[in-house]
Amino acid sequence: QQTLFKSTSVDSKITDIDHKRVQIKLSESLKPLIPDKDLVFGRNFTDHMLMIEWNAKDGWSDPIIQPYGKISLEPSAMVFHYSFECFEGLKAYKDKEGKLRLFRPDMNMKRLWKSAARLTLPVFNEDELLECLKILIRLEERWVPAKRGFSLYIRPTLIGTQASLGIGSNSRAILFIICSPCGPYFRTGFSAVRLLSTFKNVRAWPGGTGDAKIGGNYSPCVKPQIEAAEKGYQQNLWLFGPDDEITEVGTMNCFVLLDNENGETELVTPPLDGTILAGVTRDSILQLARTWKELKVSERKITMSEVVKALKEGRLREMFGSGTACIVTPIKEINYRGQDLKVPLDPNDASSNAGPITRRISDTLMGIQYGEIPHEWSVVL
Ligand code: COI
Repeated sequence: QQTLFKSTSVDSKITDIDHKRVQIKLSESLKPLIPDKDLVFGRNFTDHMLMIEWNAKDGWSDPIIQPYGKISLEPSAMVFHYSFECFEGLKAYKDKEGKLRLFRPDMNMKRLWKSAARLTLPVFNEDELLECLKILIRLEERWVPAKRGFSLYIRPTLIGTQASLGIGSNSRAILFIICSPCGPYFRTGFSAVRLLSTFKNVRAWPGGTGDAKIGGNYSPCVKPQIEAAEKGYQQNLWLFGPDDEITEVGTMNCFVLLDNENGETELVTPPLDGTILAGVTRDSILQLARTWKELKVSERKITMSEVVKALKEGRLREMFGSGTACIVTPIKEINYRGQDLKVPLDPNDASSNAGPITRRISDTLMGIQYGEIPHEWSVVL
């Protein structure tokens, strides 16, 4: 008899992913490339995808790179009913010499592992999956845009495919990787956004799954996002608890730069307490800002009343969101309890779209990603 509640995956001793066993079935006809100006985030896909099937008896099968195309699943597959799905997002960049680069891809592999374990989906050897991913990206090289601000967005995805309406762990799963050439995430490019605070809904809560990159965290966030857009705001601001703690911005992590009450200039982002996604960009910003030794860098709770007080006292300096898709997005306004709060941008440049620290962080990250600033985070393929 099937024991549906037992995890079939996390501690299994069967075949793991092995990049040396990758099989490649090339597409017979290659698609035309999309001109950079026509790229809309996540709408176009390359010629090939990577697929790795898993079952509880045998473990991971040989990875296959095959033409990008439809996958066939039973309508009873658990992914369709109970959201057994987790994913990652990372990018491949082309530097000035034409070399392909990934940005801290090991972090994405580790996070996918954690998300999979949270959902009792099968885990895997992260280094081996990364090697498989690299083989795919090398094959899709022509799809990696060469222009700064453009890149190939890579979407590893793991789904539970067991045909079952009984709720339990999956005995079958598929891990696939698809790739999508992309330009700036927002149509407006690197320009400051207006936020609407969300009160009716919360994104994540203690003991929940807000720190896992699972599809089930994203679909419920579209409605508040649409409500914000209908009122003329580009993103919603996620608050939590009776003190209106700042948590995230749309699908991004959130940073506040302020002069604190002790007179220190402090860069603050909420701590990884289980309700915050451990963003790779978030971690990179914290590490970079710490190496500058110019700012106090804090992972701590920050409430809207602290932000409002700092704004009133002229101590709020800058705010921005961060994520793989957008990298850094400056924030210029927050609607909070009916009031539009103006977040300062650049005090020395009225026409600027971003504060000086926001811009410096964005430029440094992009410099590293495009190989202009040598750094161990940029992995050459
Ligand atoms: C990111 O910032 O990379 C995201 O998580 C957005 C993605 C869901 C499109």
